[in-house]
Parts: sequence; C-alpha cells; structure tokens
Amino acid sequence: MTTIRHIGVLTGGGDCPGMNAALRALVKAATHRHGIRVSGFLDGFAGLLDDASRPLGFDDVSGILTQGGTILGASNRHDPFRVPVPGPGGPTYRDRSDAVLATLARHEVDALVAIGGDGTLRIARQLGARGVPVVGVPKTIDNDVGGTEVSVGFDSARSIATDAVDRLHSTAASHHRIMVVEVMGRHAGWIALEAGVAGGGDVILIPEIRWSYEAVARDIGERTARGRRFSIVVIAEGAPRPDGGTVVREIVAGSPEPVRLGGVGAVLAQALGAILPFETRYVVLGHVQRGGAPTPSDRILATRFGAAAVDAVMEGAWGAMVALRGDRIVRVPIADAVAEPKVVDPEGELVAAARAIKTSFGDGVSST
Ligand code: F6P
Repeated sequence: MTTIRHIGVLTGGGDCPGMNAALRALVKAATHRHGIRVSGFLDGFAGLLDDASRPLGFDDVSGILTQGGTILGASNRHDPFRVPVPGPGGPTYRDRSDAVLATLARHEVDALVAIGGDGTLRIARQLGARGVPVVGVPKTIDNDVGGTEVSVGFDSARSIATDAVDRLHSTAASHHRIMVVEVMGRHAGWIALEAGVAGGGDVILIPEIRWSYEAVARDIGERTARGRRFSIVVIAEGAPRPDGGTVVREIVAGSPEPVRLGGVGAVLAQALGAILPFETRYVVLGHVQRGGAPTPSDRILATRFGAAAVDAVMEGAWGAMVALRGDRIVRVPIADAVAEPKVVDPEGELVAAARAIKTSFGDGVSST
C-alpha cells in the first residue's frame, strides 16, 4: 500500500454552506492525527487543469467552520474531460485530463479528495478510472447524490427555504394573495418537499409528481371554500410545466451539468393569476439558498465526512465516497452514488404524511 504523505483536495460544483466545515475537518484530521501535508486546488477542477493550489495547514482552516462557501473557490463549469474550445461554428470539446494527471504528479499528490455533487463526483470517478487514487465527499443543496441519506449543504438550504415560506405567510395572509415560491434542487424535489412541509406550504410541486394548473386551482379553491383567503405554493425549479417541458434559464458550455433551470415559478404565477380570483406574486429564492453560515447539522455532518474521508484515504479505499446511513458514516462506491440521481419517492412516507394533512401536490390525488 502507498504511504500517504500528501493529500490534494478540491471543492467542485456549486458552493454551499458546509464546504468549509468539511475542508476544515479534513485538513485538521490529516495534519493533526497523521502528520500529512494537504494542498487545496483552487476553483474545483480548474485548479488541477491550471495547476493552481495553496498549502492548507492546521491554522489555515481555523475559524472557517461557520463560513459559508469555500475558501478554495468552486466551479461548476470545468470538466477536464470536456473542455470547450471556441470555434466558428460554436465550441468543440477536448479531453484535457492528462493535464490533471500531470498536476497531481508534479505535486506528488498521493490521494485526491473531491468534495462535490454528482457532477464533481462523476469526474472524480473518471479520474479514478485513469488511476488517480480518489475519495469523494458528497455536498449539494439538491440532496440528489445517491448512496447517502443526506449531503452537506442540504440542511442549510432547507432551513433558508423554510424560513422564506414562514415569512411569506404573513404577507400572503394580509393581502389575500397566492404566493408562489420557486426553490432550487435541479431535477430533484427535496428542497421543495421538505421546506414545503416544514413551512406549512399549501401546495408543493416537485419534478417527481406530475401536476396540472386545474388541480392546483381546484385545491386552492377548496381552501377558499373553507375560508382561507391566501395560499402558499412551493415549486421546485425542476418541476416540469404541465405540458411537459422544464423551464430553462441558460445553458453553460463545458459544465458537467450544462442546463441551468429557473423560471417555472413565474410561469405558474401567471397561469394561476389568470384562472383564480386572487392576486398572485412569485419569489425566486435562487442563490440565497446557497449562502451564509451552515446549520449545526451541516457543520456536524461535514465534520464527520471530512474526518471519515481521511480515514478512507489512510485505508486506501480508492473510488469510495463517504456517506450517511442511519446514524453511521459508511463508504459507498462513487460509481454507485452517481449512477442515478436520488429523487423523491412519490409513494414515500413524507409525501403520504403531507397528503394526510391535505397538502396538495397539484396532481388531483385526494388526501381522503
Ligand atoms: O446544484 C446546486 C444548484 O444550486 C442547483 O440547485 C441549481 O439549479 C444550480 O446549482 C444553479 O447553478 P448556478 O450556480 O450555475 O446558477
């Protein structure tokens, strides 16, 4: 087994609260317990492509536990296996993973830890297939990485979205309005479902449950008949419109996940405003969900993951991702974790509980 003297770490994909907490734990465990040197590569895989890094010692990560974002910088547009090269007819794509391997060799990195979501972890797996000793740490507000019950960042985003739903109640009630709240999550409805339930949303629309304007209007109409003169609708950015298409904000060339979603909340608000006798407003929470200090749960999870990633490195568990199962930290193959995105089970217990208390999913399924 290789002796580990030097760990490289990067934070890839969209940033989120808790990334710094994971970095801190990894660096402190590596340096304090094992006397291993750590280098942080900057801006996700860009730092490995361009050879940009900084040493990370015990003191460099002191005080970052509560800081949002990542001190290393992140990028969700640098896939070394698909680097865009501008051309007259649009970009073509080149595999530059050799440059990554060269950077790791130049710095004599014995193990690479990738802290990221499914895009970052997929690239990590590909690098593993090229012989890079790699370990993964799951982070994403979307909570869609497989093999782990929760990823770092989700609890913080859920908490921010819940707070927004809470706050919208009083203004919706005062003006007798329908408030539509669009939350992130890409093609998974975790933030919408859990913040919707935690915040007492009246209608929750997620990608995993097909909905219609008519069913949403009917359920809001039932609330009106019961004397409720306002409604809160929480919609996931990836919830396809009833005609089937997701609403796309932009396409980012060279990104592992090039499609950026956004805008379905506005579409829904306009449609509901046209068929219901209520003023309707919409709010897009957007990147607010990724900002600020991590919640205590995220700090704890990130600390456990960071320390466990160092254990995985020391045991040569290449290709493994640390994960949460029940109350235990386990290892799962990165390949399994990224095989399929983890999405909400429409028949699951939380959806059933929400239906039981008459929360609408806009699908015409009665809760009785
Ligand atoms: O994957 C995290 C996430 O915040 C998604 O929820 C969202 O769709 C996307 O990233 C936004 O990406 P960007 O920061 O490039 O706008």
